[in-house]
This record gives sequence, C-alpha cells and structure tokens, in this order.
Amino acid sequence: MEYRRLGQTGLEISTIGLGTNNFGGRMDYDATKKVLNQTMEEGINFIDCANTYGGGKSEEFIGKALGKNRQEMIIATKAGAGLGPPGTPITGPNQRGATRHHIMQQAELSLKRLDTDYIDLFYMHRWDPDTPIEETMRALDDLVHSGKVRYLGCSNYTAWQMVEAIWAARANNLYNYCCIQNEYSLVSRDVEREVAPVSERYGVSVIPFFPLASGFLTGKYAQGEEPPEGTRFASSPNMGNRYLTEANWSLLGKLQSFSGERGHSVAELAFAWLLGSPVVPSVIAGATKPEQVTANAKAAEWQLSAEEMAEIREML
Ligand SMILES: NC(=O)c1ccc[n+]([C@@H]2O[C@H](COP(=O)([O-])OP(=O)(O)OC[C@H]3O[C@@H](n4cnc5c(N)ncnc54)[C@H](OP(=O)(O)O)[C@@H]3O)[C@@H](O)[C@H]2O)c1
Repeated sequence: MEYRRLGQTGLEISTIGLGTNNFGGRMDYDATKKVLNQTMEEGINFIDCANTYGGGKSEEFIGKALGKNRQEMIIATKAGAGLGPPGTPITGPNQRGATRHHIMQQAELSLKRLDTDYIDLFYMHRWDPDTPIEETMRALDDLVHSGKVRYLGCSNYTAWQMVEAIWAARANNLYNYCCIQNEYSLVSRDVEREVAPVSERYGVSVIPFFPLASGFLTGKYAQGEEPPEGTRFASSPNMGNRYLTEANWSLLGKLQSFSGERGHSVAELAFAWLLGSPVVPSVIAGATKPEQVTANAKAAEWQLSAEEMAEIREML
C-alpha cells in the first residue's frame, strides 16, 4: 500500500481508504467486522465515517471492531448533516448545521460511539448558510486545541465556500481545513471546474466520494438488465437512476475496453484515474465484502502514464 500526505499536513494516509456508509444500515456488525479486518490486512489506514451513517451505528461498529488497533488507524468522521442526541428527533432546533452548539455536541457523541478520545479528521459535512463561518472555524479550532480532534476538513462545499472558510481561519489565526470531500469520479466531474483549482492553490486535498459511482464503475450492472440481487442499486433504485444514463453506458463501454486492453478492471481504472490527479491523495471506497476491499486495495498498484491520462481525458 502506498501512503500520501493529507493536504499540507505531515499525516500519511493510504491511497485507498474505506468508506463506511453501509455499516449499521445494509451491513450488520459481523459483516462490518469482516470488512474492517480485511481493511487492516491490506494496509489501509484511512477510514471515512460520519455521525449520520447507520444513524450512528457505523461509528459504534467501527469503535467496537477496531479495539486496540485504533491507534494505527486514521479515523475521519463528520458533523452537520442532521443528527441529534439519542432519542431526539432530527428535525428539532440545533440538530444540524455548523453552529458551535451542534459541532461540540456532535464531536462528543462521535467520540463516545467510536469509543476513543480523539478523532483524527473531523469534517463539516456541508455548508451552513445560517451560521457565521467565523463561529464554525473557531469552534473547530477549539476542538483541535482541546485534543479531541487532530485535523479539519469540509465536505460538499463549493469553491467560494472553501475560500471563505480558509480566509476566515487565516484572518483569525485558527486551524484550517486540510481537505475537502466532494463527489468525484469518472462520471461526476463537477469538482474539476472550480473546487480542484482552489484545492491546488491553497494546498487542500480532495478526497473523492462515490469514486465508483456507487458501484456503476465496477461493471457489475448491465444495460437493460435488473440490478443483481444484494447490490446497492437493487436496494436503492434511486441511486441507480442517477447513473444509469445512455451517456454513462456509452462511456462505461469505452472505459472497459481501455482497462481490459491493459489487463485491468474498470473499477481499477476508476481508482487509478482519481489517484492520477495531483490534488487526490486517497480514494475512499465503500465495500460490503472483504473481497471488495482486496480488489480495491490492488487498484492502487496501477499508475497511469501521462499519455494514458490524456487518452482518458479525450474519452471524457
Ligand atoms: N461527504 C458526503 O456527503 C458523502 C456522501 C456519500 C458517501 N460518502 C463517503 O464516501 C464513501 C464512498 O462512497 P460510497 O461507498 O457511497 O460509493 P462508492 O465507493 O462509489 O461505491 C461503493 C459500492 O460499490 C460497490 N463496490 C465497492 N467495491 C467493489 C468491488 N471491488 N467490486 C464490486 N463492487 C464494489 C459496493 O456495492 P454493493 O453495495 O452493491 O456491494 C459498494 O457499496 C462512503 O462510504 C462514505 O464514507 C460521503
């Protein structure tokens, strides 16, 4: 496994990370533990979670399954997308957003569920238009000073929101975001327009989510056929509808030929292409089975040449 630096920090994260939004929802504790064991086996040290995944169960399962191995892992989690303390409705006041109130409350709850006394990387899950950015950045800075959080990130921000947050932190001498987590894959490239250029200029890493377009880019779905049983598109048809377009089927065919000619799967190409970007240190992939973790870890071994990157750009 290769490790790269996260943003301008010295922290080394594995080029393949693990996404955990299936844990505690589609996956019970036993299935989660098997995937986490394989993750460690493959040398993957970067685990991406959020307070909302599985309604909090994902964090709980991770804490329980990692046990003493926690020290070797870099655990990311998020707050802001809508989750209150246990037993409260998520629609109540202060149950979401980037206020000092919500940030502090959710960090404490995540620490408890993860059964740890520090969070390696803490993301704001989304931009909060109702809270002054200085309030958000100062609350996050306090979490770092208290030792409960080590690094900061943002997610689902636009380019101007990133710049506003970065400058609010700079102007007040606060800890800053070292990465942004947005959707990015061979079939979702909005990031390239403005977020990636901001990332490059300010030294903020991009951590892509949905790198496999929820499984579409593994080639496991066939045009005109029902999604295979047990897959994400079988259980969430709306997720499928986002990706199963004529244009994407046509592109998938070309990408499959490109990767096949080089002895690789299209999923390997999806990871290798993202890792070919100068702003992407790691790709977090959700996995429901240990075999998927192994296959994804292997993808990082393929380094695309400049000519290959150019050929793919033509296709896209
Ligand atoms: N910040 C945000 O707002 C946000 C939003 C979404 C996700 N995320 C994060 O990003 C992570 C990654 O996204 P994701 O898991 O939703 O999507 P993804 O990585 O694009 O796709 C994951 C799905 O692909 C399939 N898969 C993975 N490896 C495979 C392999 N080797 N062979 C065949 N199928 C394979 C599995 O599908 P099956 O279920 O069909 O087995 C898995 O559930 C999440 O887990 C989460 O941590 C963040």
